Amino acid sequence: MPRKVMIMDHPLIAHKLSILRNKNTPSNQFRTLINEISELMIFEATRDLETEEVEVETPCGIAKCRQLAGKKLAFVPILRAGIGMLDGALTLVPAARVGHIGLYRDEKTLEPHEYYCKLPHDIEEREVFVVDPMLATGGSACDAIKLIKQRKPKKISFLCTVAAPSGLERLKEEHPDVDIYCAALDERLNENGYIVPGLGDAGDRIFGTL
Ligand code: PRP
Ligand code: URA
Repeated sequence: MPRKVMIMDHPLIAHKLSILRNKNTPSNQFRTLINEISELMIFEATRDLETEEVEVETPCGIAKCRQLAGKKLAFVPILRAGIGMLDGALTLVPAARVGHIGLYRDEKTLEPHEYYCKLPHDIEEREVFVVDPMLATGGSACDAIKLIKQRKPKKISFLCTVAAPSGLERLKEEHPDVDIYCAALDERLNENGYIVPGLGDAGDRIFGTL
């Protein structure tokens, strides 16, 4: 199957994003919204999971049903801001395992630096969804995916809330096998590497560290 690059086009996501972007939206509402958007995105990103037929006895007869075909999933938030999307993802797939990759972006060079990596021990049996609200230069997403690939998972998808065109192009080029889902594709990066119009510093807005 060819890889997917999807800019989400859905009225609920658009509405929630309009409140998320507002600089006056407080952290508690920001956290709720970013999780709600994540939940809607995971709903779409899991569309191609394999199912198998099972027979279920209802109070009135036998129903031929479909269940997930034993596929194991893992969510990997990129710390810190990726944590903001995790609860939404787990709401839809509570049995998924969770890995964590810690990266921070140097404010001057914009280069990502790794400080933590803990992934499920059986990740090679799992389909992985990497979540991070912001895809700016693309450095953090590309490095996180490179780390995960060393452990040979079944498949990797990347989900972000807001992407910049340059970050999206870099991710597509460096990881042509990764499906990409963005709630919005914005105009550009500013001179400090922030997405314009974007939503500001996602980590600071989620955790109230502005
Ligand atoms: C932000 C964001 C991404 C990264 C995106 O994290 O959550 O991980 O920047 O930028 P890039 O595409 O140019 O790499 P940040 O480094 O600010 O850390 P934080 O999540 O701890 O705030
Ligand atoms: N990281 C953020 O949190 N926001 C941006 O706009 C870019 C990188």
